[in-house]
Amino acid sequence: MSPSVTVRVPAKVNVQLAVGGVRPDGFHDLANVFLAVGLYDEVTVTPAEELRITCSGPDAGQVPLDASNLAARAALALAARHGRAADVHIHIDKDIPVAGGMAGGSADGAGALLACDALWGTGASREELLDICAELGSDVPFSLVGVAALGRGRGEILTPLAVGGTFHWVFAVADGGLSTPAVYAECDRLREVSGGGSGVADVPEPEPSPALLDALRTGDATALAAAVTNDLQAAAVSLRPSLAATLAAGTGAGALAALVSGSGPTTAFLVRDEAEGEKVADALRSSGTCRSVRVTSGAAPGATVIRAESSP
Ligand code: C5P
Repeated sequence: MSPSVTVRVPAKVNVQLAVGGVRPDGFHDLANVFLAVGLYDEVTVTPAEELRITCSGPDAGQVPLDASNLAARAALALAARHGRAADVHIHIDKDIPVAGGMAGGSADGAGALLACDALWGTGASREELLDICAELGSDVPFSLVGVAALGRGRGEILTPLAVGGTFHWVFAVADGGLSTPAVYAECDRLREVSGGGSGVADVPEPEPSPALLDALRTGDATALAAAVTNDLQAAAVSLRPSLAATLAAGTGAGALAALVSGSGPTTAFLVRDEAEGEKVADALRSSGTCRSVRVTSGAAPGATVIRAESSP
């Protein structure tokens, strides 16, 4: 039997996504409060002649299997730093919605990185792994770290946050994905229009909400519901107007809060407890406004090795 390593990586929802102005490098400064939730991808790596990726799961057909996949880029980046070949087969068992605003691609990048490090015995420090994650994408460091964190900069500079209880969520998965760059561009365009063409230069510095951080720390779902915000929501709804009906269906069924997850188009509903979650999930399913519905909770741990088999 070949040696193999399997890593489990969570999805995320942004409970606050405050978007600042456009920086000279084209990214936006953020105050991004990430919460990891219990939907997971599993990434398994085994030695191979050359780098290749396979994917299983209901939405596997939507996952790119070429070098654009963050899992491939993670393996190549770690191999280059350690002067070795990225000769590995990466298998992704995908449960996180694809292009849904839940960091599914980022999860696979962080998962492949941790798995290759273990398989190859690279012994990379946590700092080096976080550096590579930040090179791969703004959300990738959080997929490694998990639980909850405040992301500054473009989202990659993380401060871990304490979470004082379990938060229950329902996610409505939409048909098809939304492109993250397109949603940010639409956010800029909407700001330009509402500013009467005065530009987006005077957007205030994004700051985390003290009330929101308090609600996370104390595990108070009602207080968290009152504090959640997503500056990309209007842009996501502008590009995908049908999301308004999904949000309304969840709110109408008693969700404490309804918001677009990250850049969308997945929508997230904070609920009081699991029973309330099932009620909201039923209403969303019968609303006909989404493709599928998931009930879960958070916080969830970051990327974790769950299986490691060595050669006999
Ligand atoms: O970092 P990542 O590759 O995930 O970002 C994808 C795209 O999302 C960027 O190319 C950029 O258009 C947009 N983005 C942004 N500001 C951020 C994060 C992402 O404009 N803080």
